[in-house]
Amino acid sequence: MRLIKVKNYEDMSQKVAEMMMEKIRESNKINLGLATGGTPKGTYKKLVEAYEKKTISFQHVTTFNLDEYVGLAPNDPNSYHYYMNESLFDHVDIQTSNTYIPNGIAEDLKEECVQYDHLIKISGGIDLQILGIGQNGHIGFNEPGTSFESGTHIVKLDESTINANARYFNRLHDVPTHAVTMGIQSILQSKEIILMVSGEEKSNALQRLLNGEVTEDFPASALKNHPNVYIIADEKALSSVFVS
Ligand code: F6R
Repeated sequence: MRLIKVKNYEDMSQKVAEMMMEKIRESNKINLGLATGGTPKGTYKKLVEAYEKKTISFQHVTTFNLDEYVGLAPNDPNSYHYYMNESLFDHVDIQTSNTYIPNGIAEDLKEECVQYDHLIKISGGIDLQILGIGQNGHIGFNEPGTSFESGTHIVKLDESTINANARYFNRLHDVPTHAVTMGIQSILQSKEIILMVSGEEKSNALQRLLNGEVTEDFPASALKNHPNVYIIADEKALSSVFVS
């Protein structure tokens, strides 16, 4: 894992957008793995700004999102479909048919999971995966205890994750209890991974990731088994971390 230190959220967003654009520009066809949540919002904003300045095109880009809540339709403002359309897809020249997000209202959710991994595989795999991290070390919605061998699957969200995500919903009660998420193995199959970490509330998780052991109790530690991971972390996220 290579750690890149940046000053703040703004700089992290800029840096990651630049890294993504470099990859997009140097390829004729690229598969991106995307995350939602607060962390990548600024990066998507930078990508939209670059598109508006005509310095980047997404015509040859295919995207696979990490996860979606079970029970939320794509037009639900709290769904990750909605988030992606609003944050990125509606504002750039990506072909809608090239954007994939797990279907949280699929009739057969288990089959949806199998098909999602299959789709990623037959598309040639993910070239660059963007990740955020939960305070409990989750990546995607892979909560502590998830097998490192896991493919896309249905998860019951941890209470801490439900509480952390409640800020996006009107009431705590409205936060879905389950999600479909790419598994740890699905994530590790990406050729390159960028983990974004910003803010003091993530500093304990970052400390454990950098200095702790590899264990299924801390899902992000699986990234230590991957040969090509960049961590882009800001000063607040690094505030509890001893780095030489
Ligand atoms: C979202 C995702 C999650 C988030 C994590 C951090 O697609 O996969 O793992 O990255 O929950 O969320 P934020 O960025 O809101 O702190």
